[in-house]
Amino acid sequence: MTNEKSNTTCDSSSQKTESTKNKPEKSDINVRHVILVLSGKGGVGKSTVSVNLAYALSSHGYQTGLLDLDLHGPSIGKMLGIEDLRLQAIGDHIMPVKVTGSLKVVSIALLLNQTDSPVVWRGPMKAAATKQFLGEVEWGDLDYLIVDLPPGTGDEALNIIQFAPNVEGAVIVTTPQDVAVLDATKAIKFIEMMDLPVLGVIENMSGMVCPHCGEVVDIFGKGGGAKAAEQYKVPYLGAIPLDIEMRKAADEGRPFIVRTPGKVSPTWDAVDKVMENLIAVIESRE
Ligand SMILES: Nc1ncnc2c1ncn2[C@@H]1O[C@H](COP(=O)(O)OP(=O)(O)O)[C@@H](O)[C@H]1O
Ligand SMILES: [Mg+2]
Repeated sequence: MTNEKSNTTCDSSSQKTESTKNKPEKSDINVRHVILVLSGKGGVGKSTVSVNLAYALSSHGYQTGLLDLDLHGPSIGKMLGIEDLRLQAIGDHIMPVKVTGSLKVVSIALLLNQTDSPVVWRGPMKAAATKQFLGEVEWGDLDYLIVDLPPGTGDEALNIIQFAPNVEGAVIVTTPQDVAVLDATKAIKFIEMMDLPVLGVIENMSGMVCPHCGEVVDIFGKGGGAKAAEQYKVPYLGAIPLDIEMRKAADEGRPFIVRTPGKVSPTWDAVDKVMENLIAVIESRE
């Protein structure tokens, strides 16, 4: 009798090796929750949301990291007014820029000599940079890592999902128009295809605060984000109006929530509510 059966059994060690081989190799970073900020298209406010969300979390006392993974169009440095600073290396380790006692930032723009020149990225370089930004940065112990991504469902999103541990899910930012919402639904489906939860949809530029009378005027319409959230049965985190003060804050390099602390404005209230809803969704999952 041949020993076919026992041979098959004995092969279990090589099967194990095979399954470990297929498992993505996670970077060495100590973080409890990694939150991706994603959208179907550009210009909808991902970076604005990422910056304000990171600030909100750090001001709630959470140790927060903000990683700008928009490798072709990094804007976090400019939005935080730190674009002239450079990341320092100590030995093999990269020191993030410390914006506050509990907020650390890393962006490719903080490594480049010329911020107005394009970087030519090939796929494997993006993967290597993502691994470095996670494992070779002295992040310390983080409660949250907010990852600002380029629009769409490309390499950057796939890389971070593959290399980051504890990816909690994604926040999808959209503007209210049908075309933007259509793109947002693609982002929702992409996250679900990755077997990750959508933590919520944020409708940005939802109505505009008139600089003269302070009333909210619908420019792009309203409600598309809520409808998409309902259709895909994911949380809706709220709407943020189009507010000239928000744009000024980003251009001046001061996050809106810092620039206008506790100010009574519909935009401030909206941002605050969105942040609270997101924290509630994340904490309800713990
Ligand atoms: N709610 C808002 N009100 C006014 N301007 C906004 C708002 N959200 C974003 N912006 C502005 O719109 C532009 C695009 O936003 P950004 O966050 O860079 O989008 P993305 O990262 O999705 O490309 C920026 O100039 C930003 O200041
Ligand atoms: Mg951006």
